[in-house]
Amino acid sequence: MPLTQVHIPGVGAVSIREVQEKVEIADTRSEWDDWGEYDPAAKSMQLRRWVVELLDDAGETTIVGDLSAHGVWYGPSPGSRCENIGISLAAPWRGKGIGAVAQRLLADELHAQGVVRVEASTDVANIAEQRALAKAGFVFEGVIRGAQMRADGRHDIQGWSHLPGD
Ligand SMILES: CC(C)(COP(=O)(O)OP(=O)(O)OC[C@H]1O[C@@H](n2cnc3c(N)ncnc32)[C@H](O)[C@@H]1OP(=O)(O)O)[C@@H](O)C(=O)NCCC(=O)NCCS
Repeated sequence: MPLTQVHIPGVGAVSIREVQEKVEIADTRSEWDDWGEYDPAAKSMQLRRWVVELLDDAGETTIVGDLSAHGVWYGPSPGSRCENIGISLAAPWRGKGIGAVAQRLLADELHAQGVVRVEASTDVANIAEQRALAKAGFVFEGVIRGAQMRADGRHDIQGWSHLPGD
């Protein structure tokens, strides 16, 4: 049975919950999601979404960020569908260990649903996300050159993955 909640001392208990619609959360924007423009065809990505919840010692639950996952196909067979995940925490909740825990919880939830390969990609300059992925047990695979276009130009990104047992 995968863990569904992880307690971080001094912070609270972190869990994730799938939602059907995007939940607007203040302060989740960052320098890494200034896309400049959206391609209407990107709607076909069919994102699944989760919120990251924090239960504090006073028993109060706060939504502190969101997660997403979309299918990436490496072949037409069902086992060739992988999931690529993304995360954004509200600014006041960054740097407390929540990002690592939340991404591990999502990887484990997806594995429990039968997904073998869970991927994450992040800018080569996004050190916080690289550290969080490493802490979550993801394995660095390499640089994916010129993969991402944002408002300030084209970026190289890093590819990471988590397989059952990692
Ligand atoms: C990236 C993000 C999910 C990480 O989650 P988090 O809870 O803040 O991260 P954690 O606290 O689990 O770990 C962050 C690690 O990076 C380190 N870190 C943070 N900022 C850093 C920086 N600028 N340079 C070097 N290390 C940094 C922290 O010290 C910590 O490492 P440590 O635990 O080994 O000391 C979160 O910061 C966030 O939502 N950022 C904005 C959106 C974003 O970047 N999303 C990912 C896009 S791919």
